[in-house]
Amino acid sequence: MSGSETNHAIRRGPETAYVTTPIYYVNDRPHIGHAYTTTLCDVWARFMRIAGRDVFFLTGTDEHGVKVEKSARERGISPQALADENAAEFRRVLGLFGLSNDDFIRTTEPRHERQVQRLLERLEASGAVHLGEFEGWYDEGQEEYHTETKAKELDYKSPVTGRPLVRAKESNYYFRLSAFAERLEKHFEAHPDFVRPVGRRNEVLGRLRDGLQDVPITRTNFSWGIPMPGAEGHVVYVWIDALFNYATALGLGEEDPDASDRAKYWPADFHVIGKEILWFHAVIWPALLMALDLPLPKCVYAHAFWIADGQKMSKSLGNFVDLESIGRYHERYGLDAWRWFMSTRGPLGAADADFREDHFADAYLSDLVNTVGNGASRVTAMAERYFEGNVPCPPEPHRTIDGQDWSATIAAALRQAHEASDTFAIDRMADAGLSLFRALDGFIHRTEPFKLAKDPARRDDLARILHQSLEVLFAASALLWPLMPASMDRLRDAIGQPRVEAAGTLEAQVRLDASRRFEGVAKIALFPRVEAASS
Ligand code: MSP
Repeated sequence: MSGSETNHAIRRGPETAYVTTPIYYVNDRPHIGHAYTTTLCDVWARFMRIAGRDVFFLTGTDEHGVKVEKSARERGISPQALADENAAEFRRVLGLFGLSNDDFIRTTEPRHERQVQRLLERLEASGAVHLGEFEGWYDEGQEEYHTETKAKELDYKSPVTGRPLVRAKESNYYFRLSAFAERLEKHFEAHPDFVRPVGRRNEVLGRLRDGLQDVPITRTNFSWGIPMPGAEGHVVYVWIDALFNYATALGLGEEDPDASDRAKYWPADFHVIGKEILWFHAVIWPALLMALDLPLPKCVYAHAFWIADGQKMSKSLGNFVDLESIGRYHERYGLDAWRWFMSTRGPLGAADADFREDHFADAYLSDLVNTVGNGASRVTAMAERYFEGNVPCPPEPHRTIDGQDWSATIAAALRQAHEASDTFAIDRMADAGLSLFRALDGFIHRTEPFKLAKDPARRDDLARILHQSLEVLFAASALLWPLMPASMDRLRDAIGQPRVEAAGTLEAQVRLDASRRFEGVAKIALFPRVEAASS
């Protein structure tokens, strides 16, 4: 991987950023869980793009393994046919949700299969693979083995499906995970931000200190997978196959990885995942990369789960928020409101979050109707009413009125957004933009432009207040654009300014030159009130 390292050292062109979602199993239909993680990544990717970074945002589907084989058999179709059908469905949903991924990788694609085989050859050559017999507690739903200690802790039941673990035995190829325990621990210590949030990091570190067992990387009990090179009857374990997607999408397993114009994105800034697959991402994946001598991701970000009425969402309970109900939210409140709710009220931290319509309606009303929508409509309405939509640049446009130092307020919001993006604090990123609307509301309340408007002698002050308010709308619309791109495009149109774009720096998107006139400002109603639904 000297290639990507060189690229990083030279830093030609804009700085890169790489963010990934888990690749989703094709034996499931898209639901809120998939939509959630992908939306968070989308917000981050959009933010990074408008901050001037050269971004690669990856998602895709995980198509091999027993589960897919089984589901296909039940439906009487081939696993490939099932994979094709559901991968197309996942893709359709990405489009429907306006998600801005740069690639969609499928593990049945030749580019992936070819590279996984090559990476496994490299892994073997490194001495990190051996053939061995294995017996353990197997979670059939998750295709995952547990140690005796862990199995006991779980009461011999799958933590995900609740079904009993079964005793299973296989002769397999193993990855010498145990050989990496010390290096992993050192890495965790040297990089306190390697796993976020911090509670999750401590969890992993604790388990890491209990010692590591080698993990099987092939299976012989099914055939729907990538053949292990040089080992007849052995198929690459679906988890190993899947983890490699993050590297194969960038061409890192190709004969000449440096030839790929995507190698420069490596390593990921964030692998964003749900908490249930943290071990694979925070321990097995980095150890594989160490064995392959590839740089490790900067951060594995594991969010918690959406739950329903305090209960786990599960297929068996039938309480998953599925595409149909998500669709009803989109219709009732709009896609941007959905994105806002996902980003600000979801299980981003260590705690699960209850999905409830009343929470949604509250967030919509307080943040979007009363704060963002109200601020935008008041300012644009006054600009239209008092200046026929053309607000001149007054003398001393930035003179503070009522002690409000907008330059400092905007700088603080910008800083908050940047800092939040460094730690994947999507909710804090959202708050940075919202805080400007809150400040704007107070400003209008205190300066009372509607009263000044009655006094022709105060015309300059009135222009100053509205000019400053429009500058705040300009800044806030940039900060909120990653969360609600369509609404913020409309807001930019309404204040007669160019839309937010992925060019230059975020500063350039947020600040106007002081002499700017606002022309053609038109009153806008962004978020209409919505009658609470009874369902
Ligand atoms: N195929 C594996 C991942 C391989 S990544 C190399 C997999 N797929 S999955 O289809 O089951 O998707 C799991 C992911 O969906 C979670 O990690 C999380 O991102 C998302 N979610 C699934 N249910 C969820 C909730 N109830 N709440 C929030 N996100 C959840 O595991």
